[in-house]
Order: sequence, then structure tokens, then C-alpha cells
Amino acid sequence: MKVRKFVPKDLKRVFEIENMSFDQSYGINMFQQLYDMGIGFLVAEKDDYVVGYVMFWIKYENQGHIISIAVDKNYRRQGAGTELFIRAITVLSMLPIDAIYLEVRKSNLGAVEFYEKFNFIKDRVVPGYYEDGDAAIIMYLPVERGKVSHK
Ligand SMILES: CC(C)(COP(=O)(O)OP(=O)(O)OC[C@H]1O[C@@H](n2cnc3c(N)ncnc32)[C@H](O)[C@@H]1OP(=O)(O)O)[C@@H](O)C(=O)NCCC(=O)NCCS
Repeated sequence: MKVRKFVPKDLKRVFEIENMSFDQSYGINMFQQLYDMGIGFLVAEKDDYVVGYVMFWIKYENQGHIISIAVDKNYRRQGAGTELFIRAITVLSMLPIDAIYLEVRKSNLGAVEFYEKFNFIKDRVVPGYYEDGDAAIIMYLPVERGKVSHK
């Protein structure tokens, strides 16, 4: 498994992975726009085939934010998510921020378990966060500059 920067030719494949992973889509144009804005955008490749992606940025001056992470259904539980996520939180934790935040559907127990593995803490539940009325859990990781630990 190799993690590298997203390049525009990955767009179609990233969109495919997003579609199989989420009920609601950002849409292919949003991916392009986020990339053009200069967000952190990495992909995981297995045998030169893109199997997952992660997007992240600095939301506020002192706060990192994971925008999205997904791995192709057929390649899950093989460590791709871990490699992407470690890279993203390592990059963010080198910046002068206090914490990294993310939102996850309350019903997405697998993802919550995944984030807890990286010591993310449940902060609060936001009812009706998603367009379909689902609640979100806001999770965060306090950041000690440059240090990333996981279970
Ligand atoms: C969450 C996601 C990115 C994890 O990617 P992955 O490549 O399967 O993750 P890994 O193989 O690195 O898993 C690492 C560990 O996380 C935990 N984990 C991952 N998926 C899990 C699941 N579905 N249920 C419970 N624990 C899970 C496990 O502890 C796992 O270790 P193990 O396989 O040795 O038990 C992937 O399941 C996915 O794309 N889901 C759909 C999109 C999504 O929900 N994204 C997050 C939205 S906020």
C-alpha cells in the first residue's frame, strides 16, 4: 500500500469510491474545487490502483479538520484507512494547532471505532446534522505538536 498526493487524474476513481461509501455525495465538482483550494488530499494505492482517499484542512487558525475519508468496499480492513489517516493527522499535527476535529454519523459505528483507535474522543452529538436528519458525533484529537499515537 502506498500513500501519495492526489492528482487530477484520480478524480473519477475518488468519486467512484465516494459513491460506494456514502449515501450523500459531495459531487465531482466539489472534489475539484476543494483540490483547487489547496486542501490536503491524499490517496492510497494498491498495485497502482487507487483504493482510498482522505481530505483535510485547517478549518480555523488553531483547528485541523478531517473533511472526508473513504476506502473502496473491496479493500477495507486491509490497513488502507489507517495509512491514510495516520498520514493526514501527522501532517496536521506538525502545524501549530490545538486539536483535529471531524464529524461522523452517529449510526456509523465502524467509523467511530476506527477513529477511537487513533485516540479521537467523542465531544458531542449534533442532532439533525445531516440533510437526511441523521445525528453527527463530533470527535476530536488534542494535538501535541508532531506527536501521533494510536492503539
Ligand atoms: C472507515 C474506513 C475509512 C476505514 O478504512 P479501512 O481501510 O477499512 O480501515 P483499516 O483496515 O485501516 O482499519 C483499522 C481498524 O479500524 C477499525 N475498523 C475499521 N473499520 C471498522 C468497522 N467497519 N467496524 C469496526 N471496526 C472497524 C478496526 O479496529 C480496524 O482494525 P482491524 O481490521 O485490525 O480490526 C472505511 O470503513 C470506509 O471507507 N467506510 C465508509 C466511509 C466512511 O464511513 N468514512 C468515514 C466517514 S466519517
